[in-house]
Amino acid sequence: MIEAMPTIDPAQLDDTARYRLLIGAVVPRPIAWITTVDAAGAVNLAPFSFFTAITASPATLGVCISHREPEKDTLANLRATGEAVVHLVPPALLAACHQSGAAYAHGVSEIAELGLATVPAQQVRPPRLAAAQVALECRARQFVPVGDPPTTLCLLEVVCAHIDDQVAAANGLPDPRRLVAAARLGERCYLVADAWGVQALPAQQVPAGKGLADG
Ligand SMILES: Cc1cc2nc3c(=O)[nH]c(=O)nc-3n(C[C@H](O)[C@H](O)[C@H](O)COP(=O)(O)O)c2cc1C
Repeated sequence: MIEAMPTIDPAQLDDTARYRLLIGAVVPRPIAWITTVDAAGAVNLAPFSFFTAITASPATLGVCISHREPEKDTLANLRATGEAVVHLVPPALLAACHQSGAAYAHGVSEIAELGLATVPAQQVRPPRLAAAQVALECRARQFVPVGDPPTTLCLLEVVCAHIDDQVAAANGLPDPRRLVAAARLGERCYLVADAWGVQALPAQQVPAGKGLADG
């Protein structure tokens, strides 16, 4: 017997409920904590959790910025100057990250408001956050509108990566046992941990005759 499970038709929900459905179901989501600059060089900081890595060749991130009138500063800055630094969020800075998502007026620096320290990036104008253990300097490559009014999927190519020693393996790349980042759950809830519940598994084996190579 197939057990009945409640179903939801997203098309029957209002915008708010549809949003809550997705942010509650697709969890945990990493948070892109993004610095950008406007044409005059003013720095902006904001968090985005409709975010993931898209492809490794070229190294590309996808960040989705929803419609707003006026356009969100991060999107306006990306269109104007094409550069960003995407940080993962150290658990100790989660409260600042959450607060940086408040609707500050254009021209107000979230970085100054929150008392965050920055250091210059190497290849792009926006500074990077000194306390972030992973900072990815990016150039915007494509803006893809989705829906109406459109959310904009921003494709950002990583041109320089900074990985703190404390979260890196001996080869300098991120160590999954050491790097822990805060992540967004549903409602206004976050996943915050001192360590992940990491489970390392052996490489997959395909039974003889069932693999691509011997098919
Ligand atoms: C943890 C977190 C995640 C968020 N994720 C998104 C997102 O994926 N897309 C989006 O458009 N807004 C998201 N927001 C809301 C924006 O951060 C918010 O609209 C912010 O004011 C935009 O700032 P800006 O105008 O400086 O770019 C998120 C907020 C928080 C706190």
